[in-house]
Amino acid sequence: MGRVYNFSAGPAVLPEEVLKEAADEMMDYQGCGMSVMEMSHRSKTYDNIIKTAEKDLRDILNIPDNYKVLFMQGGASTQFAAIPMNLMKNKVADYIVTGQWAKKAYQEAQIYGKANKIATSEDKTFSYIPDCSDLPISEDADYVYICENNTIYGTKFKKLPNTKGKILVSDVSSCFLSEPMNINDYGVVYGGVQKNIGPAGVVISIIREDLITDDVLPGTPTMLKFKTHADNDSLYNTPPAYGIYICGKVFKWIKKMGGLEVMKQRNEEKAKVLYDFLDSSDLFKGTVVKEDRSLMNVPFVTGDADLDAKFVAEAKAAGLESLKGHRTVGGMRASIYNAMPKAGVEKLVEFMADFEKKNK
Ligand SMILES: Cc1ncc(COP(=O)(O)O)c(C=O)c1O
Repeated sequence: MGRVYNFSAGPAVLPEEVLKEAADEMMDYQGCGMSVMEMSHRSKTYDNIIKTAEKDLRDILNIPDNYKVLFMQGGASTQFAAIPMNLMKNKVADYIVTGQWAKKAYQEAQIYGKANKIATSEDKTFSYIPDCSDLPISEDADYVYICENNTIYGTKFKKLPNTKGKILVSDVSSCFLSEPMNINDYGVVYGGVQKNIGPAGVVISIIREDLITDDVLPGTPTMLKFKTHADNDSLYNTPPAYGIYICGKVFKWIKKMGGLEVMKQRNEEKAKVLYDFLDSSDLFKGTVVKEDRSLMNVPFVTGDADLDAKFVAEAKAAGLESLKGHRTVGGMRASIYNAMPKAGVEKLVEFMADFEKKNK
């Protein structure tokens, strides 16, 4: 069987070029006689791999010099604890809860201090982003937290919240490198890489240097201290070495494609194909308010659970994989990350139109 169009929310489709290159280098990385998987993380060759990855990421995102780039592990969920442990000096933080992942982060923060839910869209199943222009930001908040793109619900912050001078911490797992962003607007930007960048497990965190200190909550494990990783250039212990190598290849691919402006343009074009179809369909409906629609994750329903299940099964048989919606939303979800070609979205829409005709 050949490759399918993979609409999985994560782990997700990666550029074919990257996978082929990794396959070519599997047995013998550039004349080393071994795979990157087998290589000491203290070797000169690996040092070059991780340093180049960081440099390319800095170029792509235009990361200012006063921000550190850390490659960590434990998935994005481990950062739900690491963030309060490192940043809660006053033991107060404000959370904007726009979906399951923000909610999990909010709940985790409650273990370490006073986490305030200052806005939420839970009243309408997280189908929109609340107005964040004038929220009751706590006077002593150590930071304001958002999940910038809500993987499950398919919403995205198009405008960052007004934090009234407080540090903004953002989980960008499912919109990482999908469009340009201004790192200076944030204290911490972090994400699991398993959607747009590489293999699950690796987390990249971009942190303003003054937020990386020894002044962390008592009991913070060494491995969860930002400073541990910052002081050791992400090589304090054995990093997820192979995963970082793949991330590095994806960074090169993004650069070759023309960078984040080009990614954004491609992603807008792709998403338009699907959203335009949803807006014109009598059978399928998008579940999100138009102005907050994500370019990466597109949930939709027919309104009939049996028909949804039939659609998912028939789509799979047609080579359109992993279109089942998250268990908390039902219906379908098409994740159309950077590496999903436009042809994949076009094929999906063609299939949907055909399904609609047959199931009127
Ligand atoms: C936005 C967002 N944050 C956090 C996570 C959790 O990531 P992990 O499974 O790497 O802990 C996910 C996973 O899908 C996600 O989509």
